Amino acid sequence: MSIKPIEYRHGVVRMIDQRLLPTEELWLEYSDYQTVAEAIRTMVVRGAPAIGVAAAYGVALGARDIEAETFEDFYAALEEICDVLAATRPTAVNLFWALERMKAKARELTGTPIPEIKAALLDEAHTIAAQDEAINRSMGRHGAELIADGARVLTHCNAGALATGGYGTALGVIRAAVENGKQISVLADETRPFLQGSRLTAWELHKDGIPVTLICDNMAGALMRQGEIDCVIVGADRIAANGDVANKIGTYSVAVLAKEHGIPFYVAAPLSTIDLDIPDGDHIPIEERDTNEVTHCGQSRLAPEGVKVRNPAFDVTPSRLITAIITERGVVRGNYLAGLALLFKETA
Ligand code: MRU
Repeated sequence: MSIKPIEYRHGVVRMIDQRLLPTEELWLEYSDYQTVAEAIRTMVVRGAPAIGVAAAYGVALGARDIEAETFEDFYAALEEICDVLAATRPTAVNLFWALERMKAKARELTGTPIPEIKAALLDEAHTIAAQDEAINRSMGRHGAELIADGARVLTHCNAGALATGGYGTALGVIRAAVENGKQISVLADETRPFLQGSRLTAWELHKDGIPVTLICDNMAGALMRQGEIDCVIVGADRIAANGDVANKIGTYSVAVLAKEHGIPFYVAAPLSTIDLDIPDGDHIPIEERDTNEVTHCGQSRLAPEGVKVRNPAFDVTPSRLITAIITERGVVRGNYLAGLALLFKETA
């Protein structure tokens, strides 16, 4: 049983504080949308699908507290809540996808008594959370077929249960392969500077008994050259219409290395991560985070005071470096522009 990082109990949203893992398992409670927004911004909760789920619950909590007599006033207040949540992190499109879905649910109920709309918004947040886990399981079923028995799989960042409504995207594919009886071992890049690989991926796989070996980011090339990596699987924060993938900083370097060594490079992501409105990766907004994440490790300073620092949190991997994109509707390869568009036609 993999962890679910977000829960709803008796009017309160509970989230495990991912900043403290693996040393402390602390669950924080949220009862208003402003603190949920802050939790997303400060990465108590992180990972594209989990951000979407948290935002949906944030909208539900915010809606509950709206005092409005008319639908117009209610909807105007709802939009303001969504704007606050939307301003937290720019790259993961699941955030905007979830906010749009919540607004659409409210619009669908125009004319319904406001208390019923509030209840329906909470139900919608529950549905988004439950669907996300189900989607990951179906992605796992499609992706597991690509992973050979005995494979040594490299992953970057954390695209696991912690990053989703449960089970994980990239780690969901690995979990599914293991459930199918395959002997899989995982190499986890530590993922500087926020260390999602060492703190989160190593933690959740180790806890679930899936063999995992932690490496520093700069070790992947050497291990590929020595023949110790059979394939790479990562998640995504946003996939453009042409298949370019924004994911955690360092993903691009891994993809280039994989190409050089002839190693398959897979991306696992739900349809909610695919943004057909963005033609290619150059148009994906890339979040720049606080430079403290680079200059410090916890309270310890790692760099001279006053030194210039860059901290882009994501990079873009061009689709030509990607062997296949695994979704809940199947695996897309080759012509991503046509293949991704087709997935949405099948949904409609
Ligand atoms: O900055 P983060 O930790 O939110 O970044 C997370 C990632 O880049 C993940 O790989 C991505 O969101 C996919 S999660 C299933």
